[in-house]
Order: sequence, then structure tokens, then C-alpha cells
Amino acid sequence: MCGIVGYIGRRQAAPLILDSLKKLEYRGYDSFGIATLGSHIEIDKHKGRISEYAGGIRLNGTIGIGHTRWATHGVPNDVNAHPHMDCNNRIAIVHNGIIENYAELKKELAAKGHIFRSETDTEVVVHLIEEQYAKTPDLLSAVRGALPRLKGSYALLVIASGADCLIAARKESPLVLGIGDKEYFAASDMTPVLEYTERAIFLEDGDIACLTGNGVDIYQDARPVSRPVELIDWSPEEVRKGGFAHYMLKEIYEQPQAFFNTIQAVDKSSLPEFVCQSSSVTVVACGSSYHAGLIFKYLLEESCGVPARVDFASEFRYFLPPVDGLVIGITQSGETADTLTALRQARVHNCRTLAITNVLGSSVSRVADATLFMRAGPEISVAATKSFVAQLAVLMQIIDARSEGRYEEILLHAHEAIEEVLLMDLSAAVEQCRSAESIFYIGRGPFYPVALEGALKMKEISYIHAEGYAAGELKHGPFALLSPETPVIAICMPGETYGVMVSNIKEIKARGAPVIAVGSDGDQELPDIIDRFIPLPKTHPFVQVLTSLVVLQILAYQTAVALERDIDKPRNLAKSVTVE
Ligand code: G6P
Repeated sequence: MCGIVGYIGRRQAAPLILDSLKKLEYRGYDSFGIATLGSHIEIDKHKGRISEYAGGIRLNGTIGIGHTRWATHGVPNDVNAHPHMDCNNRIAIVHNGIIENYAELKKELAAKGHIFRSETDTEVVVHLIEEQYAKTPDLLSAVRGALPRLKGSYALLVIASGADCLIAARKESPLVLGIGDKEYFAASDMTPVLEYTERAIFLEDGDIACLTGNGVDIYQDARPVSRPVELIDWSPEEVRKGGFAHYMLKEIYEQPQAFFNTIQAVDKSSLPEFVCQSSSVTVVACGSSYHAGLIFKYLLEESCGVPARVDFASEFRYFLPPVDGLVIGITQSGETADTLTALRQARVHNCRTLAITNVLGSSVSRVADATLFMRAGPEISVAATKSFVAQLAVLMQIIDARSEGRYEEILLHAHEAIEEVLLMDLSAAVEQCRSAESIFYIGRGPFYPVALEGALKMKEISYIHAEGYAAGELKHGPFALLSPETPVIAICMPGETYGVMVSNIKEIKARGAPVIAVGSDGDQELPDIIDRFIPLPKTHPFVQVLTSLVVLQILAYQTAVALERDIDKPRNLAKSVTVE
């Protein structure tokens, strides 16, 4: 899982590609590299992040490719960084995906005398192309000849000495072309390209494109095909930090707008019938999206009496599949490999599938029967914030549609409450958390997945060990870990779960752990029994889910700032996980 960029046009390619790669670093940031084509191929690649690289990149040529890596095969170092080249340094490629049969191909090619320099799966591809390029002077034909040998997934960009073009190919990894004025781009997504053009072509699986200075030709099974040019309405400003210290903070602040825009964008009257009428629902998702699915389950069952099941997309295949029902895949990126696989499996079992995603043209919309897009705008920080809240907006709209508009007014005004919590002073809670060894988050009902998400945010960006628990479960094991150094964050809202939450909090206090409670403003009981109280506006339970989530995001953010963590690019993580 990595980010790739290619350029062909009139400008010098290297500085443009370097700048573009910075915008794709959320996909991987352990090493990077660029190759350009002028009179011959020049290449430069390095371990580490682009922002931390002090040397300059001086490569000539108006055709180029670049890569920012999240290592899968081979440790991050200069040699394993892309681009990779053939034996004679005539062909250079960058790749995002996994070549599953690389070991056998490597053996076969090595036996023929090919010299391998890296430990990557990718390197076999360039040697396969080299074999073909020896037989034909046409790079497009050479790439086309090599690809059938590959098993696995790829978005590939290829350049070669003597070929005045850039070849792009995709199978199960994202790849979009940017159509400029006599200049053309290829990239893992549109964020780096928006600076230059808003016109995009999303390649389909199996497409091979040949980009020259005069245009783009796309082929499928060697036959020319035409693909629509789409206009992307994300502005370049949206992918800039705009004065905020971190993208994550900017994105937290954009949440009221993201929620409102998404509520407006999902037209309840035109939801597919199978979404509104299915008598059972299964959600498949990963990471934060999985937590959004869990919240949906609680709210849907309570509001509509419709049973819902929520599976980690990566585990879905090991369970008995639902038959015939509705399966919803939630994925902000639209590219998470496990979620795509789970949706494909659901279709095999005759389920109707719905995708919820933030990215137009992403793979999930090709896999599902129908897609609902959130309107969160580009999210750059690795930790999901506004995309999460926008996912909930879509899911709550589905609940509203199934409840004959019962929640319409509440949803139209929810963003106002989110706005209120953005400026809360959490410094006392941050002080408590920053020195913690471990933090437990507890909640009941829909606030249990809120606890899971709060803990995930904290561990992702502060590196403090944090676990979300159903409040009733803490006594079944984790109590053994409670101490004055393990704060417990309890989400304790008025309603059905309030009384038993208060009892759970008292049990925790009796064992010496400090408790930070997120509750409702005006609560008379809670502040007296706990250490720190975070009062949220009194509002509808749907909205309290949102406000409590946002406050936990801010707590994680401020704790990570206090610990001077790398907030937008936490160690070892990536935003889009395109490997299973
Ligand atoms: C990665 C990201 C998470 C995200 C998860 C699922 O792990 O770091 O923030 O929740 O992938 O991503 P998706 O695009 O499917 O929502």
C-alpha cells in the first residue's frame, strides 16, 4: 500500500512529482523515490519521509514517475524504495499493490539471468516487462505482454528509454488519470492532481493507458475503450492545512460542515428500495468504519426494530454468510481490500450490497450494487475524523428514511451541537491522560462503540495503550489492571444506560482508578463521584453520540500534541489499506 504519481507534459517532472508525493504520504511514508525520462532515465530514491529529506532532487525530464512507500515486502531502505529498474536501467516502474506470485516469477527470471537488487515483490514486474521490451520497441505492447503473468493487485506506472510515453495499468488498486492542457497525470487519487486540473478519468480494472504529450489512450484486452471524464469538485485549498497546526485539527473543525453537507447530499427519497426495505442488515468494515457500523447497529435496532449484524470485513469470510439480505460496506477511502473482498463475497450469496464512501470513483463503487457518497471532502490525516462523522450522517439518514422522517429535524441541526463542543477546554483531562500507562474507555449501548473509537484515536496518535470496553465487561478481567495510573474514560449519558453506568463508575472508583466522565450538561450526580467531568450539550441521543465522539477525538489530539507525536502520520500506519 503506497502512493504513486506520474506526469507527462511540458514542465520538469521531478519537482512536480516530489510535491505531489507529499500529498500522498498519508498512504505510506517509510521511503520515496522518483524516476524521470529525459535523454535517458534518471532515478533518485531514499529511505524516510520526504519532509525529512534534506538533500535536493535534481533529475531532468518532462516525463516522470514517483512513489511513496508503506513497506510490505522488504524493509524500508534505499534499495527497496521504488522506482525499480530492469537489468539495463532502461525501464523504471512504480507499483502499488501486491504481486502474489512474485516468488515463483523471481525464481524463473533469475534462472534466465535477470539481476535482482531488492527484496520487493514489485521488481519482478520490471524484469517481466524487460523480457517483452526486448521483443518489441513498443512499450505499451511490452507492458501488455507482461501483465497476464501477474497474480495479485497493482496500480503500475512505467517509463522506458526510447518511449515518449507513460504507461499506466490497474487491477484492484486505485489509479486515476488527470487530464490537463497538453499535460497528463496519473495518481493513486486526485489529491495531488487537483492543483493542476479537476478533470479526472478513473481507470477500470484491467485498463492499460498510454499517456503522451497529446492525450490519453485507454485499452481493455488490447481493444481501445473510452472512459468518462469526471469533474472533481474538491478544491486544492481543501487539501492544504490552511493555518491549522495539523490536518487532523483542521479536519476535526470541519466536522460540523461535513455532517451537514452529507445530510443534505443523501436524498432519502431516492434511496434504493433494497436499502429501505431489507428485513435484515449486515455491515462489513474495518477500523473506524467498523465502529461507525456498530453505532448504526444500535441505533437501527432501537429505532426501526431491524436486526443488524456487524462484521470486521477481514473476518466476514470465516462466518456463515447472510443470504439474500442487505450488506453495507463502509469505507471512507473506498479502497480497503478486506471490505472490497467481503462485499464481493456477499454478492456471491445473493445479497444486495450498498457502499458508503467518501471518494468518488473509488473501487468500492464498482463492487457494490449502489453507492452513497459522503461529503466530507478530502481527509489527509491518517486518523479518521470527519469521514467518520460523515459516515454516521449517511447511516443516520438511512435510519431516518426507514422511520418516516422521525429524525429529520434533529439531523438537520446536529451540526450546531458539534460546533459547540469544538472549543471545550479539556486541559485537565489531557493532563491526566498524557502521563497514563493505559487508558480504558467504557460505554453502554451506542456509547460502547463511541468508547471503542475514542480509544482507537488515542492509541493511533498518542501511542498510549488505550482500550474500549463495554462498561459491563471491565470487571471481567481488565479490573486487574486498574490503578491510579490507568484513567478510565466513561461515557455516561442520560437515558436507559445511565443508572448502571453510574454503578460501574463507582466500582471503578472503589479500585483506585481516576475517572473522567463525558456526560450531559447539568448532571447533578456524576460530577460528585468522579475526578473530571466533561459536560456536553443536552440533546437527542443521536447527537450525543456525535458530540461525545468529537470530544474524544479532541482529547486524543490534544494529548498527542502534549506528547509531541507525529499526529498526521502516526508511526507504522497508513490511511488506505489496500492489502488484506
Ligand atoms: C486504516 C485507517 C483508519 C481507517 C481504516 C479503514 O486503518 O488508518 O483510519 O478507519 O483504515 O479504512 P476505510 O477507508 O475502509 O474506512
